[in-house]
Amino acid sequence: MLIRIIGTGAMGIGIAHVFAAAGHSVEVADLTVETAEAGVNRLAVQLDRQVEKGRLTEAEKSRLLGQIRVVSEDDDVSETDLLLEAVSETTALKRAIFEAYDTRCKGDCIFATNTSSLSITELAAGLSHAGRFLGMHFFNPPPVMKLVEVISGEETSAETVSEIAALCEQLGKTPVTCREAPGFIVNRLLIPMLNEACNLLEEQVAGRDDIDAAMKLGANHPMGPLALADLIGLDICLNIMETLFLETGDPKFRPSVLLRKMVRAGKLGRKTKRGFYDYG
Ligand SMILES: NC(=O)c1ccc[n+]([C@@H]2O[C@H](COP(=O)([O-])OP(=O)(O)OC[C@H]3O[C@@H](n4cnc5c(N)ncnc54)[C@H](O)[C@@H]3O)[C@@H](O)[C@H]2O)c1
Repeated sequence: MLIRIIGTGAMGIGIAHVFAAAGHSVEVADLTVETAEAGVNRLAVQLDRQVEKGRLTEAEKSRLLGQIRVVSEDDDVSETDLLLEAVSETTALKRAIFEAYDTRCKGDCIFATNTSSLSITELAAGLSHAGRFLGMHFFNPPPVMKLVEVISGEETSAETVSEIAALCEQLGKTPVTCREAPGFIVNRLLIPMLNEACNLLEEQVAGRDDIDAAMKLGANHPMGPLALADLIGLDICLNIMETLFLETGDPKFRPSVLLRKMVRAGKLGRKTKRGFYDYG
């Protein structure tokens, strides 16, 4: 298949890696050719490390990189089978991209978004590809994480869902299918749990270390909820809680006041070296 990926940040380049490793031809584009090239260079560095560790041969690395081509957004897209965007999480930005490609792609091209939280239906609204439009939600880092949430919007055809679920399996991933709802499956379950850990801490029911130890040892979670919130980014956790709360109006999704305060203080977790834990 010929795949075009728009956005070569952490997710876009990781997804390009997954498709290339499975033998697909991948074109990648970003705001500029230089940004897309920088993304491919970051991937090359990661692959070099795998070669050093003996997990990949030099030939496999070259073959994989040979499957990925940097293109500009103006380059011909008439043969593309799957257009997947992984640009920044803004509805207007993502819609502008799909609108620009809608008339340029062939009728049976599938449009997919890697959004974590936005409405699939809203992103697809008005496009001639709306029936062949869906969420293909990879997890970070894409080459390692097995799951892909395959999310249908209001107009998505059942055929498109089956085609993409089969493709995920061919990529070595496990697809789960769901209909559009705020947070889809994973974030709807996971983020409120992390939010509740913040409430426990704020109410002084237990301290940080006891909350994290409780879930590691009592629920067999590999990380405690507060350490995991730091890893995901407290701003991202808050953003998802706000979406869940706003979209459903259900008080069970009220964002924790402590979580809000941490974000306002610029304590976003690992990426700012300060969150529930210190990483300096
Ligand atoms: N990071 C995660 O853990 C994660 C996990 C799952 C899904 N997602 C989703 O994946 C998407 C991308 O996230 P990310 O973490 O890779 O972001 P990122 O900030 O690392 O990368 C975004 C890329 O998009 C590019 N971009 C922005 N506007 C563009 C445009 N108009 N045309 C082309 N390229 C453009 C940027 O230059 C950048 O390279 C978001 O929708 C996010 O919600 C992220």
